[in-house]
Amino acid sequence: NRRVTVRDIAQARERGERWPMLTAYDALTARVFDEAGIPVLLVGDSAAMVVYGYESTVPVTVDELLPLTAAVARSTRRALVVADLPFASYQGSSQQALDTAARFMQEGGAQAVKLEGGRRVAHQVEALVSAGIPVMGHVGLTPQSVNTLGGYRVQGRGDARERLLADAKELEHAGAFSVVLECVPAELASQVTEQLSVPTIGIGAGDGTDAQVLVWQDMAGLSPTTASFVKTYANLADTLTQAARSFADEVVAGDFPDSEHSFT
Ligand code: KIV
Ligand code: NA
Repeated sequence: NRRVTVRDIAQARERGERWPMLTAYDALTARVFDEAGIPVLLVGDSAAMVVYGYESTVPVTVDELLPLTAAVARSTRRALVVADLPFASYQGSSQQALDTAARFMQEGGAQAVKLEGGRRVAHQVEALVSAGIPVMGHVGLTPQSVNTLGGYRVQGRGDARERLLADAKELEHAGAFSVVLECVPAELASQVTEQLSVPTIGIGAGDGTDAQVLVWQDMAGLSPTTASFVKTYANLADTLTQAARSFADEVVAGDFPDSEHSFT
């Protein structure tokens, strides 16, 4: 009944086992995913859009993500909780990365952190790992850099292919325990996976990675729009719309509350 650890993740890779990761941002859904057996939960900076209503991940801050991380950590027992370090909270220096990651571990209760970038953050990854903080890397489409990438599009095509491969290797060399590959051609993701000894986690990266991650609101059909690589396993938007309409109709008609839902 202990939590999943980075050692378990390494052993899954050795056994060739595939595993799922979902995002989580609040107590009740984190508990549901934990009890459903999802081994790794990411408190993603995608909270910027799905929790806070921003247009990108750039505006979201440490102070906004910390309480969500703490809620997820408090309400789960088994999952490894990974906290995303938000934009501009780690790029400045190794010291800045360490200070930020420490807050997510101490105040947020996370067991690992994730940050975006390859070679450009290798120093930070090394510093965190030597301080005892497991780090998940993230290359390919790195949404915190949307303003330099010029939009959300497939990465690692043409010349960028070798650079992406080198970035992923650099992360492994710096001590990352896993690497997210976002929006890269399936065949490149497979090649990265073969060349690394730590597990890869794909999103829009085909079926050749060790693990797969989706934003839960996308996976469960709550997000109004989703990328083409997202599969929806439920239709929560419809379910909640029906529930809200039924409640509203019954209130207007005077059918709720009935005697069963009242104190006599
Ligand atoms: O913030 C997030 O949800 C992520 C995953 C999609 C990898 O970084
Ligand atoms: Na993220």
